[in-house]
Amino acid sequence: MNDFTTPPNHINFRARKLFGEMGRIVDGAVAYIDLDGGGPTEPHTHEHNHLFIVTEGEAKILLADKEIIVGKDEAFLVEGKIPHSVWNNSDGVTKMIGITVVPSGAMCLRPFMSSDAAKILSWCKDKRAFRLWSADRFGDFPAKPSELTAQFDDGGKIPLVAMADNEVIGFVMLRYPTDDKTLIRLGFVIIDDSKRGKGYGGQMLRLAIDHAQNELGARRISLGVFCDNTSAVECYKSVGFSILGEDSYTIDGEEWKEFEMILEI
Ligand SMILES: CC(C)(COP(=O)(O)OP(=O)(O)OC[C@H]1O[C@@H](n2cnc3c(N)ncnc32)[C@H](O)[C@@H]1OP(=O)(O)O)[C@@H](O)C(=O)NCCC(=O)NCCS
Repeated sequence: MNDFTTPPNHINFRARKLFGEMGRIVDGAVAYIDLDGGGPTEPHTHEHNHLFIVTEGEAKILLADKEIIVGKDEAFLVEGKIPHSVWNNSDGVTKMIGITVVPSGAMCLRPFMSSDAAKILSWCKDKRAFRLWSADRFGDFPAKPSELTAQFDDGGKIPLVAMADNEVIGFVMLRYPTDDKTLIRLGFVIIDDSKRGKGYGGQMLRLAIDHAQNELGARRISLGVFCDNTSAVECYKSVGFSILGEDSYTIDGEEWKEFEMILEI
């Protein structure tokens, strides 16, 4: 408590600065870590960073080959790209606040809202582009915003939009295609047509893969993409997907060939 000070015009009040500006807050959580508790049991990595603030007890952060001890009323920023895990290092319960932060301006994913639908649909400028994106999931082109929202009505889908500089610039849907909770399938992947070819698609896919692995427990991610959709095939390959096989679909009376792609995490 030695380095706590009383700010001007306060009484019976002691404060100590814990951290400064470090990007954008995505979410926050409180955790109670019991004796010998912690995790994940295998250190993991991801795109976002964690700001940990210990409010009771003491935490031990394993960060690559380093051990960092964070005591009560101390904070530590874990860079998500370095393999890490966090453990109780006290002989009681350790209580900590975990805040997810991303660098300012970095892309992030948030849940889709029905008010996003019109914008997402406006990114397909003609019927062929619309079918390359959505195959036979809709009736006529253009689809109505309510038809896109209705795709996610059954609750088993996880539709996410990509935000960059406070603007919606992409969309991706995740789902469990079977009862196997280690397999996630991606669908409806799209980037704003005025922003393609600048790396956003790859970035959005990396965040979706991260979400599938760390939030949904995926070990494999699958998807289908029309063979003629070169930019999409190349984008998937660039984040690690490989072609598993080929299928074909009838789209508006024509036969369209599709690659089945897979990523083992
Ligand atoms: C597919 C899509 C999401 C890719 O997004 P993007 O922002 O344009 O892609 P990126 O700029 O991140 O490119 C990712 C990689 O793909 C490569 N790539 C993209 N377009 C390419 C093309 N036409 N030819 C060759 N490579 C290409 C890039 O070079 C990059 O590779 P690198 O990381 O090794 O440099 C985007 O083109 C899109 O929205 N398409 C329309 C919707 C659609 O058809 N979705 C697919 C449904 S299955």
